[in-house]
Amino acid sequence: MRVWAISDLHTDFEENLQWVQQLSLADYRDDVLIVAGDISDDVAILETTLHLLTQRYRQVFFVPGNHDLWIRKDNLNDSLEKFYKVLNLCASLEVNTAPQLLNAVDSALYILPLFSWYVKPEEGNETLYMPKPGENSKTKVWMDDYHIRWPVFSEAGNASEYFLQLNDQYFPVLTPHTVISFSHFLPRRELMRGLYPVYDARGRKLKDPAPYFNFSRFAGSSALDAQLRAAGSSFHIYGHQHRNRYRRIDGVTYFSHGLGYRRERVFAGIDDKAYLPELIWTEANGLLTRPEN
Ligand SMILES: [Fe+2]
Ligand SMILES: [Fe+2]
Repeated sequence: MRVWAISDLHTDFEENLQWVQQLSLADYRDDVLIVAGDISDDVAILETTLHLLTQRYRQVFFVPGNHDLWIRKDNLNDSLEKFYKVLNLCASLEVNTAPQLLNAVDSALYILPLFSWYVKPEEGNETLYMPKPGENSKTKVWMDDYHIRWPVFSEAGNASEYFLQLNDQYFPVLTPHTVISFSHFLPRRELMRGLYPVYDARGRKLKDPAPYFNFSRFAGSSALDAQLRAAGSSFHIYGHQHRNRYRRIDGVTYFSHGLGYRRERVFAGIDDKAYLPELIWTEANGLLTRPEN
């Protein structure tokens, strides 16, 4: 058994769906794939994509990202209804959205999916917001502002709190085994790739394509970091920013490896055919390490 990680499949885009279809049907039959959110807001495409993955991997783990909870084509009241619709779909496809102890031959592994949402700067101190010169929060370029709708969270306060409380049912995780956790959103500010300036694959400095937009408003929550650490996670996979990363901070390794959009792959010099989910754990070697970036 091996464990692989990927995020942000965005299979609304035909070239991304083709990328999933081209994954080997033979190579990963005994393996686990962790998908850290953002497949599609279209439930039919989400189902097709997850089904393709379950045909290729022995076990697939998934948590919804922001795109998966958009309600632009759904006849639903809000994104929380969408969340449970997605969870039910996962259950019907035997895609795991709850923690599982995987019994490898010599070493056991606890895979911990963490539901999450971002905290905007006006919503609480757990925000990962960092000021950006020239930003303008009034320019509505963030599509969640159009396609995400939350109910009134009377007890939890906001979406982030609601999802953290859902995760609480699994705590405390008192396992002597290696814990690999994953979420869609970022758990720490340091993980964010520079908001500005931007460099291309050859290291050339580019003009900021969206000078008024500040991603850190919608990046994640530091409460998520507290939660994964309380669970004893030593390796956390996240997605959302579409910037690959491997970093160790205070005893936890953070890893992001997304498919993202084709224009981002072209920009980063990535060849679709040579790009695969990333191997993070093997029975022989445990958690794999790599240079920080
Ligand atoms: Fe994404
Ligand atoms: Fe996202």
